[in-house]
This record gives sequence, structure tokens and C-alpha cells, in this order.
Amino acid sequence: MAYADVYAGWQADPERFWMQAAEAIDWVQKPSRALFAENAPLYEWFKDGMVNTCWNAVDRHVAAGRGKQVAIIHDSPVTGTVHKITYAELLARVSSLAGALKAKGVTKGDRVIIYMPMVPEALEAMLACARLGAIHSVVFGGFAAHELAVRIDDAKPKAILAASCGIEPGRVVHYKPLLDGAIDMASHKPEFCIILQREQEVAKLTEGRDFAWHSVQYGVEPADCVPVEGDHPAYILYTSGTTGQPKGVVRPTAGHLVALHWSMKNIYGVDPGEVFWAASDVGWVVGHSYICYGPLIHGNTTIVFEGKPVGTPDAGTFWRVIADHKVTSFFTAPTAFRAIKRDDPEGKLIGDYDLTSLRTLYLAGERADPATIEWAQAKLNVPVIDHWWQTETGWAIAANPMGIEHLPVKIGSPSVAMPGYEIHVLDEGGHPVPPGTLGAIAVKLPLPPGTLPTLWNADERFKKSYLSHFPGYYETGDAGIVDADGYVYIMARTDDVINVAGHRLSTGAMEEVLASHPDVAECAVIGIADELKGQAPLGLVCLNKGCNRPHAEIAKEVVNLVRDQIGPVAAFKLACVVDRLPKTRSGKILRATMVKIADGQDFKMPATIDDPAILDEIRLALKGLGLARA
Ligand code: COA
Ligand code: AMP
Repeated sequence: MAYADVYAGWQADPERFWMQAAEAIDWVQKPSRALFAENAPLYEWFKDGMVNTCWNAVDRHVAAGRGKQVAIIHDSPVTGTVHKITYAELLARVSSLAGALKAKGVTKGDRVIIYMPMVPEALEAMLACARLGAIHSVVFGGFAAHELAVRIDDAKPKAILAASCGIEPGRVVHYKPLLDGAIDMASHKPEFCIILQREQEVAKLTEGRDFAWHSVQYGVEPADCVPVEGDHPAYILYTSGTTGQPKGVVRPTAGHLVALHWSMKNIYGVDPGEVFWAASDVGWVVGHSYICYGPLIHGNTTIVFEGKPVGTPDAGTFWRVIADHKVTSFFTAPTAFRAIKRDDPEGKLIGDYDLTSLRTLYLAGERADPATIEWAQAKLNVPVIDHWWQTETGWAIAANPMGIEHLPVKIGSPSVAMPGYEIHVLDEGGHPVPPGTLGAIAVKLPLPPGTLPTLWNADERFKKSYLSHFPGYYETGDAGIVDADGYVYIMARTDDVINVAGHRLSTGAMEEVLASHPDVAECAVIGIADELKGQAPLGLVCLNKGCNRPHAEIAKEVVNLVRDQIGPVAAFKLACVVDRLPKTRSGKILRATMVKIADGQDFKMPATIDDPAILDEIRLALKGLGLARA
């Protein structure tokens, strides 16, 4: 069947489409229908079904005779190890960990925070929670203690599962002191923590609160799967919004199972038993959907890769992993390819490996620039598929559905809407614009299964952030174009979110940190173009009257402050002191104009600017940082 027929089939009868897709899932009790619109504009899917995620990701494959198939390959160039876990082993490990959590009082609906590096135990922790109906919230290891504390206070976890350390090239990330610091900072205290002691660093446990990963499992009875309602939250994943308070995206259990299962064959073109690799991190949505849940729900082998595209040990690492494990579908962020291309521009290292298993490369997480796509196509000689989605949706809004039909690729476009998503481009007043016209990208409600039904404990914030600007639509926060063939082009964010090396960050959150510096009166953080990371944050600060400390010293202090408060992942390395910030007459800081100056682009003088002379001062300051060159 062609894509157009599948999409039209969904449009004609969405209920039938999703009930059919739901047949791929094992239900304890089948849902009577797909969509529940009683609480519109908050929608739910498969609400009256009963189901368990872990059963679908693990147990059922063992029951179906796949016990000996490898479920997880941990390939860790940073520790020099490779470790394979079969589905049967995974079942034993997850049941035992779930048994330990249960014995310590974790039950359905309790929250559990997971703060771990790229080790298989991170997936096992997620699955153990799913087994009990506990709601996990994974926090990315590159966040600082303060960010972890904010999430502890919002999710109010009964338990935290963490590792003693993570390993970044050239340094050990001391997770345990970060965890201890976060618990000290947070008002909510978890009842207990379970710590995975790694060989590279053994952490000191806090008596009575912390338990070691293996000993806490000693002698416990393995736990069975607990059936949960279709709309029960599977997990909360915090993502950057406009302020320092991250948004707790809720993922509903049944829609998540149905949508991810559907996507594995239809979008990624893989069959059960094949090896699927997403080189991301469990702390991001790509890690949730396509390192952990998608491949396992579908009966694939997934790879947990603990390394970087370059430097561990070289720009050939990805090719080595694909060759060693016979990866068929590979998914990563464009920035990873830019890093490889920078180190090995000719792609010479590719020739050292047998990549015949690889059928398709998928890119997402940030704009895929044409030069990167073309390089990857030429060097790997496989289709390179850009696809567009968000933490909020959990799976692709637009893609080239390789398992249905390989549509013509238009470089610069993540292709077309997936079934479930009716994409519209709207003007400021919410009216659809003609094809090829730039506008805000919105998706007609309801969003499909697997997408967020709301934000954790924040229905009103959910409605205000996503549903109120364009009634009847979900506002994606992205601006772009849809052409006459239905191909989507994502051009920019419409909010304060920037994308640094495929990581979603809030400039508003960084501004809050800069503003907390005692000498800073006013500040702005903008995202400027960066050749490797797509965007990089830049801070401009104005000092309090009478402060005559050296500017370079203050710039260094605010850089350290962001690293300390948000974490190294913010990659906040550029700051400068300026006398004034350009503003409109009503006092709004002209951030977009400053971005254009920093990137050396032409711009139109904003009609509402208060004092145009400030722009020359800004240009001069940015030139001092090596920016603002046309
Ligand atoms: N735990 C602790 N620290 C982490 C971390 C983690 N899990 N991940 C990153 N960091 C740190 C890095 O060590 C670095 O610290 P530094 O300032 O001391 O050097 C900082 O956060 C910034 O990291 P990153 O943005 O990853 O930059 P990098 O220079 O280390 O690497 C790339 C550049 C392009 C190789 C890297 O960003 C990459 O592999 N990107 C792929 C992105 C990706 O997979 N995104 C997921 C969305 S699909
Ligand atoms: P995240 O929630 O971290 O996955 O980030 C989602 C945001 O990343 C989107 O709203 C886009 O701004 C951007 N993004 C993701 N995928 C793409 C893509 N293929 N092309 C352009 N931008 C993308």
C-alpha cells in the first residue's frame, strides 16, 4: 500500500486505524474504543483497556520463543566493554529489580527518578518501573544537581535509582555527589535510593537511605507485571520550556505502546529480530522511544552505546558498531555526523568496516542541514531520512515512512505528516496560510496515541502552553512551511527554546541563572549559529550601577554559574558585558535582532526600536568575541 492510501485510510476512519494498530499489543483487557474525547481538549486513547508495558517489551517475547535473542547490546568504548543481554536474561533481571522495588514499597502510580548513564541497567530500571505500574522520570546525566532537584520537587519520587558515576571522554562524572546535592536542595525527599556501583568509581552510600543495586535484590521475590489502565502515565520526561521550570511531559501507557510498535515497521522499516540502533541518551525522548521502548516492544535488538561519535576512540566508532552488531536501521542527530565529518572529512574510516547490514540512516532532534545529509548519503550509500518530532509527541510527526513507501526525498524537509497528525501552517491570527508560506506549525487536535495528554500536575499550564494560542490545534513551537506536495520544512522555534548539539535548552532558564549573579542588572541569552552544534548559547549582561569589576571576570563567573546550575550540557561558554540591551519602545529585548548581528546576517531595523545606536554597541561587543562578521 502507498503512503497516500495509508494516510487517507487514517483520515477516513481514525478509530478503525488505531484499533487495528492496537492489535499488535498484548492486552490484559482490550479497550472498547480508541479515542476518548470526553475531556476535550484533553484527549485520551485506549483508556478502558488494561495493559502492561514491560510485558509487551519483555515477557511476551520470551513467551513467544524469543528468549535466546539478544535484547540489549551494551557497547561501551569508554570502558572498553561489550555486553549482551538476551530477552530471557532481561526478564530475569527486570523481574528481580522490580521485586526489590516492590519489597521496598514501590507500587502503581509511585514516581521513581532514574539518573543514570548509558548502561543497560538504565533500561532495566525503566522496565522495572513499568512492570509495577510505577511512573519513571529519567533525568539526563549532563544536568547539574539543581536541575535534578527541580525535577525531584515536581515529580515527588518515592525512590531514586542512580549510578555511582558516568564516563565522559577524559573525565568521570561523579553522579553520587550530584545526587546527594540535589536531595539536599530539594524540599521533597525520596524514601530511598538504589545505587549501581560501577568499577570506575565506587560511591559512598548514605546509611539507611541508599542501597546497593545488587544487594537490594538479594533474596527478593521477582515481581510480576501489574496491569494498568490505558491512560495510566508510563513516564514523565521533563523538557525545556520558556522558564527555568521544566515541563513534565506525561506519556500515557497504551497509546505509547501502540504508536511505538506501529512506528518500528512503518517508519523505520525493521522486522522483529533485526538490530536497531539509536545513538542518543536515555535522558532524552529519543532514548526513551528508540533505545528502550520501541525496539523492545517490537522484538528488536537495541544497542546501548556509551561513547561519542568522535574521540572514543575515533570518528570510525559508529561504523565499527554498525559492522560488529549488524545494525540495519541507525538513528542519530545531525550534529553527530557534523562531528564525524569534521574529523574525517573524506569518510576514510568508513572503508575499514563492512556496513552491508545498514539499510537506512535516520536523523532527527535538530534541523538536518543539506551539507550533512549529502555527505552522509554519498559516504554511506543508503537513504538518509530526516524526520521531525518532539519530546511532547514521543514519535515522528513528519517522516518518510520507509516501511510503507520510500517517498522521494526533498533535502531540507523531514517529508510528510504521519497518520494521526494533520499538520497546518497558521498565521498569527490562526488562519491557514497558502502552501509555501512561512507560519506557525500546528497540529489539528486530537493528537494521535502516544503523544502527551497533559503536563504532570499542570493541566492549565498544558492548555496555556500548547492549546490556547490556536484553539482546536496543538501549537508545536516550530515555525515552517508546508509545500504543495505536503512536505514540511522546519525553519525555527517560535519560543525561547534553542537546540544545541541536538539538545533542547531554554534560553529563559539560562537568563534566570545569569540574573541571579549579584552584579548583573539585566541580561539576555540568545542562540547563535554554531558550525558543529547547530546553535550555541551566548549571554549578554548589563551590570549594576557602580559595579566596576573587570568585565572578563564577570563573564567567566556567569559561565561557571550556568555550568553549576544547569549543567555542562548547556554548553554555555560565551558571555560578554554590554552597557545596554536593545529594546523596543515598550521595553521588549530585541533578541532576534541580536542573533542576526552575531551571525553576521542582514536585518531590517525594527520599527519599534527605542534607540538604534545600541545596535552598534552590541556589534562592537560581539566583534570582541570573534562574532558579528558578515
Ligand atoms: N553526563 C555528563 N556530562 C555530559 C553528558 C552526560 N551524559 N553528556 C554531555 N556532557 C557534557 C560533555 O562532557 C561536555 O562537557 P565539557 O563542557 O566539559 O566538555 C558538555 O556536556 C557538552 O556536551 P556536548 O554538547 O555533547 O558536546 P561535546 O563537545 O562533548 O560533543 C558532540 C559534541 C557533537 C560529539 C556531541 O554533542 C554528540 O554526540 N551529539 C549527539 C547528540 C545527540 O545524540 N543528541 C540526542 C538527541 S537525538
Ligand atoms: P526535543 O523535544 O528535544 O526532541 O526537541 C524538539 C525540537 O527539536 C523540535 O520542536 C524542533 O525544533 C527540533 N527538531 C527536532 N527534529 C527536527 C528536524 N528533523 N528538523 C528540524 N528541527 C527538528
